[in-house]
Amino acid sequence: MSDLERNRKSTYDLKIMGWILGFLGKYRGYFALSLLLMMATAALEITVPYLIKVAVDDYIYPTWSKAERGEEAERALSGLGVESTLALADGGFLVDFSKLSSSEKDRIERSGVEFSETKYIVVNPGEFEEDEKQEVLGIIARNASLFEETEGVAFLAHSDLGSLAKEEVSLLRSKQTKRLKTLALYVVLSVVGIFLFTSSFTYILHYSGQKIMHDMRNHTLSHILSLPQQYFDRNPVGRITTRVTNDVNAINEMYTSVLIHFIKDIIIIIGTLVIMFKMNVGLTLIIVALTAFLTFTVSIFRMKLRLVYREIRRTIGKLNAFVAESMRGIVLLKLYGKEKRNFEKFWEVNTENYRANIQQLWVYVIFRPSIEYVGIAATGIILWYGAIGVMNLDLSLGALLAFLYYVRMIFKPIQELSEKFNVFQSAVAASENLYDTLAEKSEGSGSLVPATTEGSLLEFRGVWFSYNEREWVLKNASFTVRSGESAALVGITGAGKTTIVNLLLKFYKPQRGQILFNGTDIEELSNRYLRSNITAIFQDLFLFEKDISDERDERDGPAAEPVKLSSGETQARSIEKAVRKNSKLLIMDEATSHLDAETEKRIQEVIRSTAGSQTRLVITHKLSTLKDVDNVIVIHKGEVVEQGTHEKLIQNKNIYHTLYEFLRKTAAGPLPGSGA
Ligand SMILES: Nc1ncnc2c1ncn2[C@@H]1O[C@H](COP(=O)(O)OP(=O)(O)OP(=O)(O)O)[C@@H](O)[C@H]1O
Ligand SMILES: [Mg+2]
Repeated sequence: MSDLERNRKSTYDLKIMGWILGFLGKYRGYFALSLLLMMATAALEITVPYLIKVAVDDYIYPTWSKAERGEEAERALSGLGVESTLALADGGFLVDFSKLSSSEKDRIERSGVEFSETKYIVVNPGEFEEDEKQEVLGIIARNASLFEETEGVAFLAHSDLGSLAKEEVSLLRSKQTKRLKTLALYVVLSVVGIFLFTSSFTYILHYSGQKIMHDMRNHTLSHILSLPQQYFDRNPVGRITTRVTNDVNAINEMYTSVLIHFIKDIIIIIGTLVIMFKMNVGLTLIIVALTAFLTFTVSIFRMKLRLVYREIRRTIGKLNAFVAESMRGIVLLKLYGKEKRNFEKFWEVNTENYRANIQQLWVYVIFRPSIEYVGIAATGIILWYGAIGVMNLDLSLGALLAFLYYVRMIFKPIQELSEKFNVFQSAVAASENLYDTLAEKSEGSGSLVPATTEGSLLEFRGVWFSYNEREWVLKNASFTVRSGESAALVGITGAGKTTIVNLLLKFYKPQRGQILFNGTDIEELSNRYLRSNITAIFQDLFLFEKDISDERDERDGPAAEPVKLSSGETQARSIEKAVRKNSKLLIMDEATSHLDAETEKRIQEVIRSTAGSQTRLVITHKLSTLKDVDNVIVIHKGEVVEQGTHEKLIQNKNIYHTLYEFLRKTAAGPLPGSGA
């Protein structure tokens, strides 16, 4: 990619981002609210393991250790607060490790002071209420052999607690038990908070996601409806359907399952790392290394999976296209006895899809568990390293427990990374597609609604037109249809007849020349005015199913299924409807070609009775009609080569004459004089 291309690509990406944010912008309130709730959830999730650490280290596990007497100990412990040290009568010290900062612990460790393996429980009778205090003193007095005393407090080895009665132990430790209860309450509240916040932000997120999707679909479809005909020529129906359904959905999925969760994961990872570094640097570095390894493994998995997914998508697309095509051509398949060959081809496509799926299975069977195992191995390493730390007094027991929680909290988002990345990627592709679709320019519309004028209703003035900008389909076409007149366009297949109608209805725009309707350039007319004043019926007519069932409702009551009408019936019915509409100009492009003589006769009756003054432009090969109209316009290779009445053109003995003779001989229409 050159610098220029890269530049263009990134401004393009920025534009897309801006466009998406524009859509999300309307719901930024919801987004902000879910973000806030989500952050609260993340904070609580990080807090819970820490509360457990505090419970273990400060209240459950004995925290005091004894240092033997000596100068080293005196020097090292002199700076510590009164809260965390007790001087003993023999010159040694009791130190409460739970109250030391990590720098103080480091200093003590470096000083080389030896601590006893035994842990101690300190009992301060002064902390108890008056009646409890008496009982505590009683216990101490009764078990004088277990307790030692210093600075007005008593202490005993943790292992000696077993020699006391159960109630005595409960009383001695009742302060800690009380604080534990409060802590347990915090844990419960945090968990309830996590539940409430998570469900609220999930709801709000999906609620706004659905709203965004609703908006986006409306916006996309209404934009697509406004696009010029060229867009529909270029894009198959399947692709347009994908824009409105799948692409919008992919963006929604990113919004609801990636965007916010990604922010949450980042917060949790950073928050957890900060707390872990504070608790123990060495162990945290090990976890960081394991995390890096896991991320690496996951990215390999992701790359592999991406290729497999792409293959699955490709084969599914092929499978769908194949089935759709076969069903569309089912009549032909049966007619030519090609079912077996068709099935063989299907077998191949289906097998490709099967192989891709099996590949995916392998990726899952091998990579998924290996990622799980990395997680389990990580837990093992932490347990091992942490246990050594606990024994060396580098790490508290509670911190080890918290580490085991935290490592899972860090690994989970990384394990899910590959799925999120997939969602993200399809959302990026979808946004590009949608952005490109919405960047398509709508068909232009003038705004003018002219007053009715007499004279020519329709005029083509030197019109040049090409669909593909390579070869001209219309070359300098000029002709006029006067008000109240009936005109016919004739010409061989591909001459450009339907193209003339397409231009008149502003489905396409001529490159040169002018088209006037009612004396005004159609460019200036509003599309609505133009299309409501011209009724056009095409050969390959298409009715919305609703139209049909609506009509049926009136006749037969509610219909369970849309009615299937024959092409002829459909045409007859819509022609009648169109003619009765009595708009300024009626165009029929080979409209009566499916009809039997009987129905056509009926239609002609309708036309004659209603369209007395209606201007008509018919495209037909029916000789009867050609003889009937006021003006015949002959198109050949995009040029208007002749015009005039049937009789006059026959006398000219030119192209029309040849065409007429041909039609007469091949009996493409009823022979002259024999028709209606
Ligand atoms: N949407 C399109 N995109 C590109 N080329 C087109 C398109 N529609 C028609 N053409 C081409 O323009 C030429 C004129 O087509 P047009 O449909 O106007 O012919 P026609 O006179 O109506 O023929 P027929 O009697 O078969 O209906 C043909 O060569 C056709 O292939
Ligand atoms: Mg045509």
